[in-house]
Amino acid sequence: MELAQLTRDLDALRDEALAQAAAAPDSASVDAIETDVLGKKGRLTGVLRGIGALPVEDRPRVGAVANTVRAAIEAALAERRANLRGSELAARLERERIDVTTPGRPIRRGTLHPSIEAMGDIARIFGQFGFVVHESPEIEDDQTNFQMLNIPPDHPARDLWDTLYVDVPGRLLRTHTSPGQIRVMQAMEPPIRALLPGRCFRYEAVDASHGFEFFQVEGIMVDEGTTMADLKGLLDEFARAMFGAGRKTRFRPGYYPFTEPSVAFDVECLVCGGPGCPACGRSGWMTILGAGMIHPVVLRHGGLDPERYQGFAFGMGPERIKMLKHGITDLRLFMENDLRFLEQFA
Ligand code: DAH
Repeated sequence: MELAQLTRDLDALRDEALAQAAAAPDSASVDAIETDVLGKKGRLTGVLRGIGALPVEDRPRVGAVANTVRAAIEAALAERRANLRGSELAARLERERIDVTTPGRPIRRGTLHPSIEAMGDIARIFGQFGFVVHESPEIEDDQTNFQMLNIPPDHPARDLWDTLYVDVPGRLLRTHTSPGQIRVMQAMEPPIRALLPGRCFRYEAVDASHGFEFFQVEGIMVDEGTTMADLKGLLDEFARAMFGAGRKTRFRPGYYPFTEPSVAFDVECLVCGGPGCPACGRSGWMTILGAGMIHPVVLRHGGLDPERYQGFAFGMGPERIKMLKHGITDLRLFMENDLRFLEQFA
């Protein structure tokens, strides 16, 4: 091996590598050329192996040539890389193009369950009159659900509330929200204005107008000098806010052991507006709740002196209110979770 030959080989290698670099279609091929030519086991190293056969005095010159060759190839590779970077970025941006002006996909919104929606409406209306929502337990004791409300163990009025009992003696699933009245009276001093919404349970055969599980909203107001006129005025305002201005209302005598006197509160039929139709049993009226002046015995059980305090209470079914409002004829729809029904509500 002589010097001239080795120098020619290096020049040839450089020319070939520069041509390859200039033609490399992408940066992966630039990397491949780099490994092939400049790598540890690459072609440049291969050519330089010939150095050992040269006379000692020639070796440094070959080293110098090899260095310029290496530098030239490195520069060519770097330049090609830089050129490709721009076009590859452009290609990638094109491939991953995002149209930021595309409208977003709408998020499916859930709706309030109609029972919850009705309880919200009721709470909002009575809230305007200073009524505050309280909670009371779904598992009650016989004492609070019945006895404190003036319904002793053998009282025939117990037939009004078919009861589901739990395994603990004396405990039951509340049949109405009225026991909350006792709890509120025991917990606070008059003036009391409380609203008690919640789930109730009865041992009922399920049909279009009976369920074993439903909601009620109880209301209670106690203060000095509270009268039935206050009750009537409040319920009138409620009926107008809930069913529309100008609705006629009426009190009918009713019976509940915990109120005296007791009333049923009716609004003008929401379907026929008075003359009578199948929806109102041809009476022209729809009953929306039960109410009355709190029985002195019940006030006393609540820890209040009936000589000093008077009060009224009322209880209504939010499902019933919704049924009347929207002409729904089957109570079972409220517990079946059929989306075709539920999605019709806000
Ligand atoms: N608790 C009664 C029921 O479940 C409804 C009721 C009637 C509640 C009259 C009251 C009331 O507070 O005064 O049928």
